[in-house]
Amino acid sequence: MTIGFIGTGEITRAVVIGMSTVEGEKPTILLSPRNEQIAAELADRFENVEIAGSNQDVVDGSETVCLALRPQDGEAITADLKFGTEHHVISFMPTYSQARLSRIVAPATRITLVTPLPAVAFHGGPTPVFPPDEDAIEMFEPLGTVVAVETEAEYQALCVATASLAGAYAYYETIADWLQGKDVPADKARAFSGAVFYALAATARNAPDMSFSELTHESATRGGTNEQVLTHLKENQVYTEFSKALDGIWDRFENAKPTSD
Ligand SMILES: NC(=O)c1ccc[n+]([C@@H]2O[C@H](COP(=O)([O-])OP(=O)(O)OC[C@H]3O[C@@H](n4cnc5c(N)ncnc54)[C@H](OP(=O)(O)O)[C@@H]3O)[C@@H](O)[C@H]2O)c1
Repeated sequence: MTIGFIGTGEITRAVVIGMSTVEGEKPTILLSPRNEQIAAELADRFENVEIAGSNQDVVDGSETVCLALRPQDGEAITADLKFGTEHHVISFMPTYSQARLSRIVAPATRITLVTPLPAVAFHGGPTPVFPPDEDAIEMFEPLGTVVAVETEAEYQALCVATASLAGAYAYYETIADWLQGKDVPADKARAFSGAVFYALAATARNAPDMSFSELTHESATRGGTNEQVLTHLKENQVYTEFSKALDGIWDRFENAKPTSD
């Protein structure tokens, strides 16, 4: 199978590295020539990767075409291309609904929305997929954790939740900064805060049947220090505000939709 990419930027780089470093058979990958530097780096590094002469050559040479363009460029660039009924189009562009894409890539009708995160490069990325197309799931499953959903609204909610990453890192930055404020050397503060972060992630991963509420409860011994910090954060609306920030992203997505959707 040949997978084509229109737009060879940061997320294409991560996906192509992920797909080209899986165990066993690798897909043949055809890249659009732009960005030249990233395309050349990937083609030099991996035998299964080639650079096409143009965007249309990518479409003509691939059964599956991934659209990895900036949202503001995506419609104009894609509308210039000729797709066939046989194409499976996978869009990485948030705010592009299936309805909008159907108009742009007609007569192709098989359209899947996917939001891979950069950690797919080392097979550790969560990837929302809508609708649960079996081939798209099979493509992204080796790159981490696929969460395939049945409605576009669920998919949009998962895309909104990807806006929480910087805020989550900032939580661990706060711990590291606080430690440094107490004269712990910067490298040790970073190492410790990072180790807490990995330990919590591993604990949650090893207990997939426990809800986050149960994990929170288990970590907050009654009358203990964790309970004190949790109570302080809750009383000061930290999590309420975090949730409101995600509402703001949801509204941003809604406002970015063309009125015809
Ligand atoms: N980065 C992420 O973590 C991530 C995750 C999930 C989804 N996404 C979405 O995926 C899309 C791409 O994101 P990105 O971070 O990879 O952006 P990016 O690094 O800016 O990549 C966009 C690429 O499109 C290329 N391009 C511009 N005009 C083109 C044209 N006419 N023909 C072919 N290629 C053209 C750009 O080339 P130049 O560099 O030469 O301009 C650039 O390489 C966006 O819609 C983004 O929202 C990103």
